[in-house]
Amino acid sequence: MRRSGLAQLLLDAAETGIRLYKWQRRWLDDDARFRVLLKSRGVGGSFTVALEALVESLLKPGSLTLLVSYSQRQSLELFRKLRTMLSALEGASLSWAGEVYRSVAVSAETKTQVELGNGSRIISLPNNPDAIRGYRSDSVYVDEAGMFRNDFEVKSAVAPSIVGRSGRLSLVSTPKGRRGWFYEAWSSGAFSRHTAHYTEAPHITAGELEGLRKALTELEWLQEMETEFLDEANAVFPYELILSCVSENTSEAATGPVYVGVDVGRLRDSTVITALERLEDGTLRVFHVQELRGIDFQAQESIILNLAERLRPVSIAIDRTGIGLALYETLSGKLPAVEGVTFTRNVKEALIATLHSLMKGGKLSIPPDGRELINQLRAFQRVETPSGAAKYEAPRGQHDDYVMSLALAVGAAVRRLGGGVMVSRVWAWREASEGGGSTLPP
Ligand SMILES: Nc1ncnc2c1ncn2[C@@H]1O[C@H](COP(=O)(O)OP(=O)(O)OP(=O)(O)O)[C@@H](O)[C@H]1O
Ligand SMILES: [Mg+2]
Repeated sequence: MRRSGLAQLLLDAAETGIRLYKWQRRWLDDDARFRVLLKSRGVGGSFTVALEALVESLLKPGSLTLLVSYSQRQSLELFRKLRTMLSALEGASLSWAGEVYRSVAVSAETKTQVELGNGSRIISLPNNPDAIRGYRSDSVYVDEAGMFRNDFEVKSAVAPSIVGRSGRLSLVSTPKGRRGWFYEAWSSGAFSRHTAHYTEAPHITAGELEGLRKALTELEWLQEMETEFLDEANAVFPYELILSCVSENTSEAATGPVYVGVDVGRLRDSTVITALERLEDGTLRVFHVQELRGIDFQAQESIILNLAERLRPVSIAIDRTGIGLALYETLSGKLPAVEGVTFTRNVKEALIATLHSLMKGGKLSIPPDGRELINQLRAFQRVETPSGAAKYEAPRGQHDDYVMSLALAVGAAVRRLGGGVMVSRVWAWREASEGGGSTLPP
């Protein structure tokens, strides 16, 4: 039986009401050892990975399948998809095997695994090359492969894991620029290529698409839904740089001094708050990002007051340009730590330069699940004006509120560090890092 046939049988037995789409059947029935799936957001990529892992485990008793995700949270979520399928199947009678498959879940901090009645195991791992290296696997799936901060390390860990067993490798992702392992796999010719466009996944309704169109910027839409690999030419923050700052330390509790940046919404009526803490080695760790959309200023004010009460920041930098002035004025009357920042071109440039240097020096830590922040950072551009000066901004019609909120928080932290001589301090980091060379492959 073809894999798609068995997959459909499982879905029917679990009474999901789901009929596999054409792209899913093509993907499931492709016997190639190396496959790559380029997909729009939300089409069912992770779902298909979980389903296929189950199918392959049933077809090959005693096999080992690894599901690799870019963050701890994602790996748990992927595993939850698998568990949902398994529990729906529990008690269901599958006529083809005449055997009841019992599932045994072992949940631990860093890995999650299930063992089927036929001895096959499926293990869901977060982004951890050492853990991957520890296994000999029959099949490895890398979900959202474009989102890995250390994708080439993962690549070199996967290779030894699948040799010897003629293991298969599948990369599934929405594109993230013309860079990295996923793009390399897609363009190398060595992988069997598949696509899943949102028009081939009708569970995404016209209403949802319309909502997404409004919520996403043009560039985000092209990338996330039209599956375009965007080029990095004008990017201030290339993906390689952004992903090098991603860290799994996502604790909401801060122990070091806290700095907050508040970008007051103009474009789309949303205000973004970023809180970061300074760690002992000087790294600024983003631990809280909050978007207030469609909330009036009075409510915004009380949210910020509550946050300040809870986090006790050393400093809160608020954008007081234009519409931000009112919020700045009321808050500065109530909180001692408020600083107002007026976004002139020079101020903005200095903030961005500081953020950039910090990132190059490896002194910024951002959470892997901060997709909106990551996308906005990537979209941020350096544009030459007709006079020859540089302007830093989101492309036309796009948002930079997450970026500016972060830049404000970083600016506040760095100002406090050097008592006003922030730029020289940050440039020193940059030079240090350039001298030391990069750990990423070119
Ligand atoms: N053939 C199908 N028919 C109907 N619904 C489906 C089908 N395949 C998948 N789905 C549904 O699509 C939804 C999205 O699935 P999933 O989260 O796996 O997508 P994804 O591509 O991984 O999304 P993201 O880009 O957010 O990671 C799920 O609710 C899943 O049940
Ligand atoms: Mg997914």
